[in-house]
Amino acid sequence: MRRGIGAALLAWCLSTLLAQEVPSLRSQTSCELLQGVDATTMLLRARAYYRTGLFELADADRVAYVLANLDGIAEACPAVALQALLLKLEENIIVQPGAFDTLMSRYTLILHQAVREQTITAQDMRNWPLDYGVERVLNISQALALPRRLTASVVMNYCQVVDRFGTSQLLTWLMDPPFGEPIEGVLESGLLRNTDLHIFQVDWPWCEPLPQDVLDRLRVSVRELRVVTYRGGPRREEQTAYFKYILDNWDNLPDFTIFVHPDADEHQGQKFLALTRVLKLINTQSQFAYDALEYYPLAQQMVVDPRRTWGREGADAFAPVWRRFWRRLFGNSWEDLGFAEPRCKWEKHPGHFLAQHAEGDTRRYSLPDAKLVCAHLGDACGGVTCGTPIEADEFDLPGQDQFVRATCTVRRGADGPSASPEPAEVSYVKTCLDRDADAEQDSVSKATYREAKGTFLLGYAADDSVLRGEAESRRRCDELRDACTGYTCEKSLVVTRSMTKKAYQEAQAAQVCTVRAGSQLTGSPTGEVTYVKVAASPKLQEAVSQGPAKPEASGVFQFYTGSQSVVRKDRLGWWPREEIETFAADGVWCSDTTGLVEAVWHRLFGEPLSQHPRQEDPALPLFLKWGIPTFFSYGDEGVI
Ligand SMILES: *[C@@H]1O[C@H](CO)[C@@H](O)[C@H](O)[C@H]1NC(C)=O
Repeated sequence: MRRGIGAALLAWCLSTLLAQEVPSLRSQTSCELLQGVDATTMLLRARAYYRTGLFELADADRVAYVLANLDGIAEACPAVALQALLLKLEENIIVQPGAFDTLMSRYTLILHQAVREQTITAQDMRNWPLDYGVERVLNISQALALPRRLTASVVMNYCQVVDRFGTSQLLTWLMDPPFGEPIEGVLESGLLRNTDLHIFQVDWPWCEPLPQDVLDRLRVSVRELRVVTYRGGPRREEQTAYFKYILDNWDNLPDFTIFVHPDADEHQGQKFLALTRVLKLINTQSQFAYDALEYYPLAQQMVVDPRRTWGREGADAFAPVWRRFWRRLFGNSWEDLGFAEPRCKWEKHPGHFLAQHAEGDTRRYSLPDAKLVCAHLGDACGGVTCGTPIEADEFDLPGQDQFVRATCTVRRGADGPSASPEPAEVSYVKTCLDRDADAEQDSVSKATYREAKGTFLLGYAADDSVLRGEAESRRRCDELRDACTGYTCEKSLVVTRSMTKKAYQEAQAAQVCTVRAGSQLTGSPTGEVTYVKVAASPKLQEAVSQGPAKPEASGVFQFYTGSQSVVRKDRLGWWPREEIETFAADGVWCSDTTGLVEAVWHRLFGEPLSQHPRQEDPALPLFLKWGIPTFFSYGDEGVI
């Protein structure tokens, strides 16, 4: 009984004390009682977005929920309503010119009413980043009002009408809404009307050109259609077209170049969410669009630590190929960057947690970073648990600025995974091998070559006079490094109109070539052809050391698949012109490395090597993150 009275007294005292110190207790309490949305989460995520740029699908859903229930929420907890209005405004101000006035007058009304009814206090205004949010929106609104004429081009490589899945690739996606001819009364149509379309049509006999009626329909969908016929690499690839486009337009690039595939929906998704948004942004023809858009990925899938950079088991010999490629492209070794083959494998347990933080480390990491830390901790770390809800008191811990980007922590997990009361929790249990990751160092690079018809180079390289096919000679000349200056083959291949791809490849394999050491190309009386090794440009090192403005996204290599992105013109000049020229001229190199170049485009255009997912890229405006998913796949879970 006495204890009961004591406890009641204590509670009463506390509540009076708190009521005095924190006059907003009433509103705070009603904030906590909100249905359907957690006020603390709303606060933390708003701060996180303003501080780091992180804005995920769940954040867009939360804001949408608040807006759908705005009146009730504004009455109970005005701060939540106001913050949601500001976030929504930052997004739709881009496409709805009237949004600013409409939403801001709503904002002002709610704020006035809350002050009148004392449901919002000075403390709330300090806690919630409302003033900051208003200032951001004002800034965006001003930059949007500054007109700037913006030009843009879509660039694609085009080879065949029937793609490798056997479906017709007639570019219908470019002709239908939201692209295609503008349709009266349909808002989401004609989005490419201000954009030029460059189709690089590949001129091998096995690549069918686009039929005239398709070209006609494309012409009315864009500002100007340009079809460039060119040869490109002998096997499927897209990058010679990209390289050629950059070179041909070097001094006259549009503000934005949009690199896409003919089968763009394969990587971008049927709804083209990212492309649609970025075109709307460009179509604002504003200073804001120019400043906000430097590099923007269009694909949906991001691969983290893919096997193509480290795989080495059995027939899976990716690692040596990647290293040679890397050495040529960047002039240094992949290992220098601190990337290595993952030593550990991870078993995923959805709906489970691992007990206790490893070594008392309570920091939040992204999944790839958490795995790295856990691998370093050795036996003290049994795995990683992600999806653990964030506690309010975590937010202001020192050094935790980045934690909101991630929900994973490293765990001791001595007893293995246990079922979690939090449905979103997922654990990864670690098993590591004691393997010497950087045992073999390979200093060979996958060299680039220039074709010189009707010539030969004198003298065998390293006294090697073995006759080899073209591909084998290339490989051998790479291996001999500086001792080999090129390889000379008996004759140039003649491509006839009726030649099949297979016939060409057979002719290529039947070529008779030898590796050479001479430095002087000499005219050949017998119609020989020489492939002269082209060294990297002296400007390469400068480009490599010119680091990106943004920090790396994580401690491991990651990138969006599919070589589709929007790039501002200054970024297209980030890499030395001579290097691009060399790649563009070596179709074989491009054919051999297409899946590898795919992984580094973003770096050539000035992004960090560990690429940021859209939703956490600190440089992108909210409009380009809103509601656009990224799907992650992991090399240590088997993804190439
Ligand atoms: C708004 O713009 C001003 C002037 O450019 C700048 O100083 C300020 O930091 C910006 N505010 C926000 C919140 O971005």
